[in-house]
Formats: sequence, structure tokens, C-alpha cells
Amino acid sequence: MADLIKKIPRGAVVELQFNRPAKKNAINLDMYVSLIGALESASSDQSVQCVVFTCVGESFTSGNDLEDFVNGGADLKDSPVLRFLKVFSQFEKPIVVAVKGDAVGIGTTLLMHADMVFASPDARFSLPFVKLGLCPEFASSLILPRLAGHVRAFEWLVFGDVFYAKDAREVGLINAIVEDPEYAAFEAASRLTSLPRNAIKTSKQLLKQAEKALIKATIDTEAEAFGKALKGAEFAEAVSAFFEKRSPDSTSIYKGD
Ligand code: COA
Repeated sequence: MADLIKKIPRGAVVELQFNRPAKKNAINLDMYVSLIGALESASSDQSVQCVVFTCVGESFTSGNDLEDFVNGGADLKDSPVLRFLKVFSQFEKPIVVAVKGDAVGIGTTLLMHADMVFASPDARFSLPFVKLGLCPEFASSLILPRLAGHVRAFEWLVFGDVFYAKDAREVGLINAIVEDPEYAAFEAASRLTSLPRNAIKTSKQLLKQAEKALIKATIDTEAEAFGKALKGAEFAEAVSAFFEKRSPDSTSIYKGD
């Protein structure tokens, strides 16, 4: 079976590629485990100076695998999902991301922890947590209002509608809209690898340090609420509706309220 996360060494850069196009690159537990391993080895490997995230197929990622959320129950505490969020958000070397097509859920929230992001004009970002009976994750409830202001963060996190590269650029979620985001990402990575690496490391540390503890605490608080929501009737109905390709009907959930 093909690796669902492809690890492609490119000199001082490691490319990590979502490779599950038939499922729109939905990230399952095995993929989180591979991502954690790849980031940990990129972190300890002195020859690696930068990580670039890309995708196979037309969509960056459709977010967390919903089947795993159904099967895995609500225990996020020791789950690879939570470990991935921590490893990614605390990664000390630069992370560059190329986005095309859909970036759903974690596909958008992980951008809030990346260092450079390039998106194609057709990129579509969405945070459909509430539609799924869930709540924000990956410290998006902290970072997005700071980027976009409360009202826009509320709109994107609560309605969960798609927003586009132009909006993402306007709030500073991405660096640039480019026809070929992978080319732009590797060009940026190449520039990064030509700069003094200790100075980059120190600069990234300084840029992140004020918020580091708060981001870690927010990831944990959100994960607790998210875990509870995964056990709830709202999620059960929303996810059944998704797999049955129908609209959700939550009316019976609130009977007797
Ligand atoms: N988890 C599990 N399977 C997923 C998935 C996910 N997050 N996203 C897509 N898939 C599967 C679909 O079930 C479908 O499988 P099938 O071919 O066996 O029926 C396949 O991937 C293709 O998806 P489809 O919905 O037909 O593609 P699309 O181009 O019409 O729509 C999306 C793409 C991303 C808009 C849509 O798939 C979607 O909304 N996915 C769910 C996103 C989501 O809620 N993520 C979780 C956020 S917390």
C-alpha cells in the first residue's frame, strides 16, 4: 500500500505530502502517527533545515478522517491527533505549506502554526466544526480572532462556510496567492536554507515565545471540549448525514429541552 504520508528528502528540505487523494487527503490516525515521526526525525536531523507540506491530488486535505472520529471514541487525551498538534505547533525549524483546493478543518487550522503559506487562487478554506456538532481546535479559537477580529472569526468558526484565498491573504493566514503554490513553497524553502540557520531558529523562537504557553493551554482546553462534543448527539447526527450523503436533521435531539 502506498504511504499515505510521503516523505521526500530534497537536500536540506523534507517534503511531507498528504497522499490519500481518493479521500480528499482526509488525515487518519496512521497518517498522524507518520506525521509525528517525520517531524520528530526532521527536528533531530541536523541536515534538515526546513519542512514543506504539499499534497497529492486536487485537495490539500479534507481535515480529520471523520470515520476515525466515529470509531476512535472521544478520548483525545493520548491520541496521535493531540500529539501531532503539539509537535507541529512547537516545531523549531521553519514549516512552509502549499495549499490548493480544499483545506478543511485542521487543513486550515494548521496554517495558523506554519511559518509561510502559499495558496492557489482556487484554494478553499473552511472550519466546519459547529456544523459537525464540534468546536474549534488547534488553538484556532485563540489565533483566528487575533488575525481576523472576533466577528470574522466567529463567522468562519460558527457558520463554517468556505472562505477564499483573497480573504485568507487579507487576514494574514497566507503569504501569497500564486498559480503554483508548490513552486513558491520550495522557492521560499530554498531561500530559508541559504540563511544562517541558528539565526532563523532564534527568530522563530522569539516570534512564538510570547504565545507559546497560552497556545499549548488552549489546545488542551479545546481538546477537552472537542472530546466531549465527539460523544454528543449533534456530532452523531452530523457525521451520519455526511456519510449517508444527506442533510443533517437535528430536530429530534432537542425534544424535551
Ligand atoms: N473523513 C473521511 N472521509 C472523507 C472526508 C473526511 N474528512 N472527506 C472526504 N471523505 C471521503 C468521502 O466520504 C468520499 O468517500 P467515498 O468516495 O467512499 O464516498 C471521498 O472522500 C470523496 O469525498 P466527496 O465528499 O465525494 O468529495 P467532494 O469533492 O464532493 O467534497 C469536501 C470535498 C472536502 C468538501 C467534502 O468531502 C467534505 O466536506 N468532507 C468532510 C470535511 C470535514 O467535515 N472534515 C472534518 C473537519 S473537523
